[in-house]
Amino acid sequence: MNPPSEPRRREWPIAAGLILLALVPVLAGAVRMGDLASGAPATAANARFVEMPLPIVLHILGALVYSLVGAFQFLPSLRRRRTAWHRFAGRYLLVPAGLVVAASGLWMTAFYDTPAIDDGAVAISRYGIGALMLAFIVLGVAAIARRDFFAHGAWMTRAYALAMGAGTQVLTSVPPFLVFGEPDALMRLVQMDAGWILNALVAEWVIARRRAATRRRTPATVIA
Ligand code: HEM
Repeated sequence: MNPPSEPRRREWPIAAGLILLALVPVLAGAVRMGDLASGAPATAANARFVEMPLPIVLHILGALVYSLVGAFQFLPSLRRRRTAWHRFAGRYLLVPAGLVVAASGLWMTAFYDTPAIDDGAVAISRYGIGALMLAFIVLGVAAIARRDFFAHGAWMTRAYALAMGAGTQVLTSVPPFLVFGEPDALMRLVQMDAGWILNALVAEWVIARRRAATRRRTPATVIA
């Protein structure tokens, strides 16, 4: 028989892995905030952030809360045993932060003078991802309002996976950069989209496993 603490101990790698994935973009955000707070002079690389700081500041603060606090919502024991915390964090921290991350991402895509390589196809992907993330969070909130716990978890998992594309993109872009140097427009698009697509696939795999486990526990349950 397992000691009571064992399942919980085995869950911590989930949160640790998600936090590790978010680490590079979160640290990049801290550096950008330091740059803005110290009144660093505008250069070609940071002019858009200096001239219009509000969306990037909202984006970085939202991303910090969403990625770090969100990682703990995936621990089954914390979710089941600390339901008050799960609800509080979801309602007051994660839903607002998630909406802010997606909306500010869309805002910057629309109004920032981004590097030429990110205009065109990458911008179209960002519009798609931002819109899907907003929609998934709204669907997750609607599902919990009708007490459909399975659908709630599935939509929130999908939204989180898209946001965490920022972390996976570090893995899909840094190694090719080290080997091949600066990407061209097509490679940049492939690297960015690969981060989002990989995360979406992992999310669907996690959701399918959860669906199968729920069916095994309660075979009569109808789940979408
Ligand atoms: C938790 C997830 C996310 C994190 C940690 C994150 C992190 C960051 C950071 C640190 C920056 C500043 C980059 C710099 O200083 O050069 C940034 C910029 C940006 N992010 Fe995110 N982001 C996340 C999710 C998203 C999503 C879902 C979108 C989709 C719309 C998005 C769109 C953008 C855009 C358009 C910019 C501005 C890029 C530029 O002007 O070069 N981000 N993000």
